[in-house]
Amino acid sequence: MDHFLYHNGALYAEDVPVAEIAAQVGTPFYCYSTATLLRHYRLFDEALAGMNHVVCYAMKAASNQAILKTLAEAGAGMDVVSGGEYARAIAAGVPGDRIVFSGVGKTRDEMRAALEGGIRQFNLESEPEMEVLNEVALSLGVQAPVTVRVNPDVDAKTHAKIATGKSENKFGIPIARAREVYARAAQLPGLRVVGIDVHIGSQLTDLEPFRLAYRKVAELTRALREDGHDIHRLDLGGGLGIPYTRSNEAPPLPIEYGAMIREELGDLGCEIEIEPGRLIAGNAGIMVSKVVYVKSGEGRDFLILDGAMNDLVRPAMYEAHHDIIPIIEPEAAAEQRPYDIVGPVCETGDTFAKQRMMPPVAAGDLVAFRSAGAYGAVMSSEYNTRPLIPEVLVKGDQFAVIRSRPTFDEIINRDTIPSWL
Ligand code: LLP
Repeated sequence: MDHFLYHNGALYAEDVPVAEIAAQVGTPFYCYSTATLLRHYRLFDEALAGMNHVVCYAMKAASNQAILKTLAEAGAGMDVVSGGEYARAIAAGVPGDRIVFSGVGKTRDEMRAALEGGIRQFNLESEPEMEVLNEVALSLGVQAPVTVRVNPDVDAKTHAKIATGKSENKFGIPIARAREVYARAAQLPGLRVVGIDVHIGSQLTDLEPFRLAYRKVAELTRALREDGHDIHRLDLGGGLGIPYTRSNEAPPLPIEYGAMIREELGDLGCEIEIEPGRLIAGNAGIMVSKVVYVKSGEGRDFLILDGAMNDLVRPAMYEAHHDIIPIIEPEAAAEQRPYDIVGPVCETGDTFAKQRMMPPVAAGDLVAFRSAGAYGAVMSSEYNTRPLIPEVLVKGDQFAVIRSRPTFDEIINRDTIPSWL
């Protein structure tokens, strides 16, 4: 459920007409709903009720400071994967002991910053990384809390570019080698083992792969405890999928996910951490764009928008589907026609949808891409020197620009001309 609905024939973001935002900020832009963000965060929080738990929002999905602050004030922790994300979490007021640091390539500088600023734990992904973190922690005279991310060799049954839990993926250490790796961790005086981490992929629409992975983690917990390790925390990663089409998708709900976690891991007495990103932010955001031209081609018609692949790259990168709806509600009886919906960027990959059935649309009309809140703005670029598009946050009947559109001069002035020119 989200808060982008038609009222009296017009699309609203909560209590604000989307057209009113467009009139003020121009198109294209991203628009997020506070109520949807909070609702999704709370669904996870409630799903884990009764177990000692922390929901660490995977901010890679949408990391505007206003979004982070909204979630942090509701009690969310954060999952970060870079020094930049760590700095964002701290700037949004998240206490260090609610920040987990994931990622396969953490540098010494990133480790140092997190150890100095406070960190709940590092999720280690390799033995070389483990040795380096030990050195960095010792150089600061502290002990780093760690889990090791295990790769359970489970097929997440999702898009190949976002599956992470198979043995051929770059993530984690093979679960079969975990005891050996934990034994080494226990010898390193700069590290303090606190638990186990696993994350098998993103946009999972079935609980079974999670269940298989978590069962392996339960087995490993018992084995590592027998080996004398103090395993009291399980980080179960993110990955629960969302419906991208309104009609025919019904991925498992957070409450069902929580029940499965309780079933598989509830008797271990561990603190549970989860790292959802997409489910919190995905359906809490839309991208609004204007039709610039309707062009008739050879046997097909094109809707050429002012938004492009640089603003929302998911269709070009993952063949992802986003529902695209007019912001004026079409008549129920309106005849639908197929269009190729494209952006103005100079490559064929800049195609959002092919032969998508749409009600009648004309140049100047506004459309909204649904489910664009996660991995939308954060993956955008200024390709074709198209300025990063603004982000707007709605709360009830209020809205605010939370990132403004840079001017051309601002973009140009970021470059510097060397002295010889
Ligand atoms: N934890 C770790 C260690 C991750 O790598 C990820 C996502 C998450 C949590 C959050 O997963 P989520 O709950 O959002 O599924 N750009 C792609 C998705 C990349 C996901 C990367 N890792 C897309 O647009 O589909």
